Amino acid sequence: MNQQNQSVLWADQSQNTPSSDVMQYLAGEDIHWDKTLFLYDIKATEAHISGLQRINLITSEELHLMTSSLNQLKSDYQSGQFLLDDRFEDGHSAIEFYLIEHLGDLGKKAHTGRSRNDQVLTCLRLYMLDHLMQAKDHIRSIAQQLLTLAKTHTDTLMPGYTHLQQAMPNTVAVWLLSLAESFADDGHLINDTLRLISSSPLGSASGFGVPLDLQREYTAEKLGFERVQVNPVYAQNSRGKFELFCLQSLYHVMLDIKRFCWDLSLFCTQEFGFIQLNATHTTGSSIMPNKNNPDVIEVMRASASILEGSISQVQSLVSLPSGYHRDLQLTKAPLIRGVKVTIETLQLLPGLLNSLQIKENEMLNAIGSESLATDLAYDHLKQGVAFRDAYLFAKNNDSNDITFKDSVNSRVSLGGAANPGIDLIQKRIDSIN
Ligand code: ARG
Repeated sequence: MNQQNQSVLWADQSQNTPSSDVMQYLAGEDIHWDKTLFLYDIKATEAHISGLQRINLITSEELHLMTSSLNQLKSDYQSGQFLLDDRFEDGHSAIEFYLIEHLGDLGKKAHTGRSRNDQVLTCLRLYMLDHLMQAKDHIRSIAQQLLTLAKTHTDTLMPGYTHLQQAMPNTVAVWLLSLAESFADDGHLINDTLRLISSSPLGSASGFGVPLDLQREYTAEKLGFERVQVNPVYAQNSRGKFELFCLQSLYHVMLDIKRFCWDLSLFCTQEFGFIQLNATHTTGSSIMPNKNNPDVIEVMRASASILEGSISQVQSLVSLPSGYHRDLQLTKAPLIRGVKVTIETLQLLPGLLNSLQIKENEMLNAIGSESLATDLAYDHLKQGVAFRDAYLFAKNNDSNDITFKDSVNSRVSLGGAANPGIDLIQKRIDSIN
């Protein structure tokens, strides 16, 4: 491809045009982020031209030529033969350039009935759907992994904490299932988000439709959307709004991971010693030979802040009047950054879970006898004493013959250590569809 600036495509050369400094400023980092969106943009272009053929704006033969050229572009891009670099303002103009360069006048028909405004919306939406689906698959299988691990620890005792103070004896199963059930809910949240954003903006053009009978339902179905996003102004206004739906759903996943990593980082200290991290997930120190630092869980914990930053950046960009504004281009970076770090964290989590060594004796030995006080109160209550009196009795009498095992075995109501509801949590995981 010739060294040229894409603005040539539609600029009137007889008039003043923006200097390259201005163009570069406007493009910013956009071309970098478009590298992540490019294949989705090609896919959307394929659907769009197929729709053009349905209303006879191009012939079947022309559709065939254009589709082959787009396939070629796809493989040239994947093999590195076609570089998306700053010769182009964005991925959209790069596709049009490629088609014109390879097909001449026929390539000039590709932008019929569309605008870069609906083009960017469509490829971003396909990107979000694809990645939310990936996140959901990871979440489902991690929830399953946690549940399977929990099943092997229904009798492993550990202290239960509130305020980081010992509260009541608990089991490792109940602790692990807390994350399994929370992940299952996150999977359902992502499902709902997928349904919400599965609407096609393609054909809304710059935000007002075009004077053509575009087959919007057809292209929506071809791209796998559940429905058409009907109103073209709303399609523009949903940029940022849908990014927030996506990022906020993923944020819940990262918050869960953050809490779990907090637990792990406490539990693997010398003071707790409940869990040992494998050397595969720790790093040494450059000065202290004794150190095995839990950097992986710390970076996982910290990654939730990337989501927080992304959400806040998109929120501050979206309070705009109706319609497209170039401000919206800046929502791309926080979206991709937030999605990327979530997927990367989810990819590493199964390996981390597999590497955890649960130190059963240390956990058992750490349980203090004071954490049986509630059990003592309930023993009294079962002899017919009113709860408040039983409570005061237990507060003033610390000797009892209750064992830690008795304590967890008596937690029989649903969810408690003796009845952790594994089957119900399994159903909740299975119903993430
Ligand atoms: N790079 C632009 C974006 O992300 C593409 C849309 C350009 N549209 C326009 N009217 N300038 O928003």
